[in-house]
Amino acid sequence: GAPVEVDISGIKPGEMQVFEWRGKPVWIMKRTPEQLKGLEHTASEVADPESLKPYTMDLPDYCKNKSNNRGRAGHEETLVLVGICPHLGCSPSSKFAPGAQPSLPDDWQGGFLCPCHGSTFDLAGRVFKNKPAPNNLDVPRYMYLSDTKIVIG
Ligand code: FES
Repeated sequence: GAPVEVDISGIKPGEMQVFEWRGKPVWIMKRTPEQLKGLEHTASEVADPESLKPYTMDLPDYCKNKSNNRGRAGHEETLVLVGICPHLGCSPSSKFAPGAQPSLPDDWQGGFLCPCHGSTFDLAGRVFKNKPAPNNLDVPRYMYLSDTKIVIG
């Protein structure tokens, strides 16, 4: 499939938008400083904090950053994920997505929750321990054309 160019200038801190690439939902979220800080706490609660398992699509090493938040160096606040559960392919929910997310408890801070078998993911798309999803959510290849434009694929 062709690469897709998206404009992320309308995404406010703490919000995400859903785009489509190769028929897959791609989530782009801008994390607040507090949300990024929270990833230091969830690091001990997730199964693969440094995303060391083999991933089919994960970012190449040269564009990872040291804090393992899965943003690209210089754009740490922006998270780009394929919104498909690595367990059996359901679509996880997020309290940060537009529109109603009625199945999520009010106190859910974790990030993303798969309704099919209960896998939960933090705000770096890392799966929490002892959940059925075998991997973190995939990060597609992408690059910045400018601070507000990304090319996915
Ligand atoms: Fe997501 Fe099973 S498909 S937990």
